[in-house]
Amino acid sequence: MQPDQAKKEIERLSKLIEHHNDLYYQQSKTEISDQEFDALLRSLVELETQYPQYRAADSPTQRVGGTITKEFATVFHKYPMLSLGNTYSREELEEFDGRVSRGLDGDSYEYFCELKFDGVSISLTYENGILVRGVTRGDGVRGDDVTNNVRTIRNIPLVIKGKDIPPAFEVRGEVFMPKSMFARLNKEREDIGEERYANARNTASGTLKMQDSGEVARRKLDCFVYYLKTDESSVPTHEKAINLLESWSFNVSPTYKKCKNIEQVLEYIAHWDKKRLELPLETDGVVVKINSLEQQEQLGFTAKSPRWAIAYKYKAESMSTRLNGVTYQVGRTGAVTPVASLEPIFLAGTTVKRASLHNANEIARLDLRIGDYVFVEKGGEIIPKVTGVDLPRRQAGSTPIQYIDKCPECGTSLVREAGEAAYYCPNVNGCEPQILGRIEHFIQRKAMDIDSLGEKTIEALHKLGLVRSPADLYDLKEGDILRLDGFKKKSADNLLGGIDESRKAAFENVLFAIGIRYVGKTVAEKLARYFKSVDKIAEASLEQLLEAPEVGQKIAESVFDFFRNAENVREVERLRAAGLQMESTAKEPEKVSNVLDNKSFVISGVFRNYERDELQDVVIKNGGRILSGVSGKLDYLLAGDNMGPSKREKAEKLGVKIITEEEFEKLIKG
Ligand code: IVH
Repeated sequence: MQPDQAKKEIERLSKLIEHHNDLYYQQSKTEISDQEFDALLRSLVELETQYPQYRAADSPTQRVGGTITKEFATVFHKYPMLSLGNTYSREELEEFDGRVSRGLDGDSYEYFCELKFDGVSISLTYENGILVRGVTRGDGVRGDDVTNNVRTIRNIPLVIKGKDIPPAFEVRGEVFMPKSMFARLNKEREDIGEERYANARNTASGTLKMQDSGEVARRKLDCFVYYLKTDESSVPTHEKAINLLESWSFNVSPTYKKCKNIEQVLEYIAHWDKKRLELPLETDGVVVKINSLEQQEQLGFTAKSPRWAIAYKYKAESMSTRLNGVTYQVGRTGAVTPVASLEPIFLAGTTVKRASLHNANEIARLDLRIGDYVFVEKGGEIIPKVTGVDLPRRQAGSTPIQYIDKCPECGTSLVREAGEAAYYCPNVNGCEPQILGRIEHFIQRKAMDIDSLGEKTIEALHKLGLVRSPADLYDLKEGDILRLDGFKKKSADNLLGGIDESRKAAFENVLFAIGIRYVGKTVAEKLARYFKSVDKIAEASLEQLLEAPEVGQKIAESVFDFFRNAENVREVERLRAAGLQMESTAKEPEKVSNVLDNKSFVISGVFRNYERDELQDVVIKNGGRILSGVSGKLDYLLAGDNMGPSKREKAEKLGVKIITEEEFEKLIKG
């Protein structure tokens, strides 16, 4: 392709991708499939790699991550990131108002109220309208440079377009994980047998510091901004700053309000007390700021916090009610989760009858007894949690809850592995919720995507003894389906059509669908890409599994054990016989240059900007070859961190060139 053609194509693809992004993120609509979207994005990435001069700073490719940061650089904040004083009552707020009034010598003043978003604060630096740095709060004086991860957050603009943009400015805000995303993530974790994350705030904080920005992108963080620092004197009030941020298309929560006096502030606080629970993120209070920036300066700071702002913290909505009993749920992986049955109470807008108890340790920690009055709190989770016991109300003679030792579904004795919090039912192939759960996992969208099947139908098929494992789905005949209530020829054909269609699902989907513990979609994709077939994965030793990207000890052992279980192997063979994809069909990467023609490489160690398999692709795309070991024929040993000393010694002895990641990058630039 000619450079000017490439430029046009890059622009066309960028526009098209932005269009689909906008549909998806702003209007919750889709016009093309995920695969088609990924294909567009991949074409753009490839063109931009070949013609970096045409990559726009706000190209949609900048949002998808893919960079690996092994260690985040420490950056000093230009202005320290302070915290706020807290108040919990009307009286304390009135005292704050008194201090403000005295500090301003009786001049009149206005307040600006915002909700206090419960996330992780972030500092964003823009130079010439381009996002150059995103830094966490850290200890307030210095934080971590998490720019690559910040770029994946859709509503943080990468390039500012608009009028009167100062040459340099800093924006601060709160990065958070929306409640819906948090619930989805936890559901996904439960599905692959991982423990649930405790709360959205810590999850957002952990996500922002993940090494793989691709994973950060998938987790769809969000951000509200609430602060602009520029040297421009044309911004006299906080309100004006907020309006400017809005006009530059920053994401500002529309919940703010200017207040003339402390009474109006108290009204604002009362207004949002309940209503805030309907917002897409968690909030834990209100931040009250003096509107005039000149007056802010006049009031100044204490050692820790500004005198011109204060946080009012809402009391967490908590009520006590009677614990009537504990029920136990069994998931797909056999993990048992205890759930409290409560005397119904009305809490923060809904009636609560059940609350999560997490695991046996939690019940022991709370020393729970049936008949206790327990405190129930609603956080960001859909299911409220039990936070404590109202001890003075405890009945005399009550005894601690005995955790069950038999599966409530099938009666098998439960087991607990060392280091695990949960008890498991080991009756993998005979316990109904595990059987149904595995089939539900198998048909989900990210797996085989059989949307003609639903929970009810699976249950009915299982009851009739027609389906006990995913492979049984592929043996179903029209006659079988017609035995189900409510099915006629047309609906039966539709159901079978959906199952048939799933035979085309890509290998990574199959690998995820078969339900190896701890193997989520991302890990399945990495394994598929690295090993290329189910046979290679099944044959791999623990050490070989550990060499694959994203695979640590826990996952490696789980995969290894899975393929040493005869029942699992038989199931995989039946799926293969049914025509499912057991090999990666991903094409060899397309060639982009000849600069590495006739050159051979061994890649070893850990790299800053690439996964090892990505580097392999880059070598092949540029005409090079990958060899498995160091020998006299080898041209280059591409050495990352932590490379074994024996490889280096051998290469040195044989006179093989050892190059770093940076030298490799120079090499491919030609
Ligand atoms: S303004 C000088 N506004 O609360 C302090 N902070 O306790 C300027 N926060 O570190 C902060 N929502 O992470 C401000 N609307 C809001 C906020 C907010 C949440 C967090 C922020 C800050 C902490 C202070």
